[in-house]
Amino acid sequence: MQKVKNSIGIFDSGIGGTSIWKEIQQLLPKENTLYLSDSKNAPYGNRTKEEIIELSIKNTEFLLKNDCKIIVVACNTATTNAIKVLRQKYTIPFIGIEPAIKPAALQTKTNVIGILATKGTLNSELFEKTSANLDSKLTIMERVGEGLVDLIEKGKIYSSEMTLLLEKYLTPMIEANVDCIVLGCTHYPYLKNQIEAIVGPSVKIIDSGYAVAMQTQNILKQHNLLNLENLKASHKFCINIDKTVLTEILEEHVPPGINISIEETAF
Ligand code: DGL
Repeated sequence: MQKVKNSIGIFDSGIGGTSIWKEIQQLLPKENTLYLSDSKNAPYGNRTKEEIIELSIKNTEFLLKNDCKIIVVACNTATTNAIKVLRQKYTIPFIGIEPAIKPAALQTKTNVIGILATKGTLNSELFEKTSANLDSKLTIMERVGEGLVDLIEKGKIYSSEMTLLLEKYLTPMIEANVDCIVLGCTHYPYLKNQIEAIVGPSVKIIDSGYAVAMQTQNILKQHNLLNLENLKASHKFCINIDKTVLTEILEEHVPPGINISIEETAF
């Protein structure tokens, strides 16, 4: 019975997975959460599969030590490279996140889809398998968002460097007539306004945040792990570097009245 009050554990290579935390908090306001930001080791996107697996295991062990009841891998790079190993190694349920190319494939009218993600995600076997199953009449323009995660981790979301990089990555997509752009990294929803300003209102920006929150709810239900009691939920954020940038992003995006704490922790 006690277990339902245990936290939903969430990890990412950095602060980007807070975009997923937000969706989970909104959909499941009674749930306690523990968020792990492995910013010391970010970005994961240029690391080898072996390194990503090792880091994902380390994060999982921390969340398990803190009695989490389910683990959300709020990182496309960690999901596409490591979730299979995590599911084999541990009995706790895992929720993963993958680029939403299937929903984009259903919505496109021009049959040209853009996808912005890390090198680690685009090169993964899992991503390759998903894209191979799509309709052959679709053109998918993949683009590595090199440097974007670094700038976000440094607190430079609204910088001229960011605008230049986004223009460089998105202009070829517009020229190729994309009408849907998939954000295949959990850091990128924080760039949505800037992306919209560059690509214009006719291009749909698609991310997987809400779908991940829904899946978390479904799996908690299936395992009888939903917290139904009306207590004020607490949300703890742990980061293994200076917490300034994480604090700023949470101050900007967390609705008032939500009980959060942010801790610098070695893990
Ligand atoms: N938020 C991670 C993802 O969704 C960022 C990856 C990275 O650290 O490069 O892929």
